[in-house]
Amino acid sequence: MIRSLAYVGFTSPNAKEWRSFGPEVLGAQLVPSEPGDVVLRVDEAAWRIAIHQGDTNDLGYIGWDVGDAGGLEVATRQLADAGHSVNQGEAGLAADRQVEAIAWFSDPFGFRHELTYGLHQAAEPFAPGRAMEGGFLTGEGGLGHLVLMVPDVDQASQFFQETLGFGHSDDVDMGIQVRFLHCNPRHHTLAFSGVPGMVGVHHLMLEVERSHDVVSAYDIVNERDMTIAMTLGRHTNDGMFSFYVRTPSGFEVEYGAGARLVDTSANTPPGHYDSVSVWGHEPPAERLFPGILRSIEA
Ligand SMILES: [Fe+2]
Repeated sequence: MIRSLAYVGFTSPNAKEWRSFGPEVLGAQLVPSEPGDVVLRVDEAAWRIAIHQGDTNDLGYIGWDVGDAGGLEVATRQLADAGHSVNQGEAGLAADRQVEAIAWFSDPFGFRHELTYGLHQAAEPFAPGRAMEGGFLTGEGGLGHLVLMVPDVDQASQFFQETLGFGHSDDVDMGIQVRFLHCNPRHHTLAFSGVPGMVGVHHLMLEVERSHDVVSAYDIVNERDMTIAMTLGRHTNDGMFSFYVRTPSGFEVEYGAGARLVDTSANTPPGHYDSVSVWGHEPPAERLFPGILRSIEA
């Protein structure tokens, strides 16, 4: 079944700004791509993040690694059994995404999910776009995590737990409910924040190996006077030391290190927290609209 977050694609009118934001701020490596697109590497995979030129800031697709042909078959069957149609990838899609095989479906909120395996490795070793002490923490834990906004957290988590086998790590409830789900030892790969009548993207988290690289990224963001959605801080549930920067495309990147892992073999009951952070993670003085948010289509 789903093993990890393989890649993620966004659309944005500001795609070209990622040509500097990706390498110079995040430390990602720019990959040659179609004109208008910005494609980034963070490890030995051929690519991990794509920003496509488009009319609006939006999440285009989420790519999931299902391991192999057997994993793709199981995931497709479970979705079909639960009444969700799975589309076989159109001709050329697997080649575009640089994977061995692909199928896709829309979740109950309209987000597009791609089930894949065999994401190609790059011919050249990963070279960060700016000086870094270490690299990005990917491997078994995948690219990172995504936090989406949905009108109904229970419906969202039920779909991903029951149909796609995600585990429930914990909830944070501080007026707004956030539910954290895992599909590997990374504390969460997908999380949902409840916003009535709306869907959206709050943030993409990228984890680096060394906390030094979090602080140096923070320094770059401050030097460039970029919008910080949350200052440096440490989360209660995954223990991540991180900050949040507003990307050129209206959502946040959480840039962090040092998160704790979950034991996926243990049947640990989900935890509950009434705050997001142990310290820090302060919002800006001027209130910032949280990520990309739009009314759900009827
Ligand atoms: Fe996060």
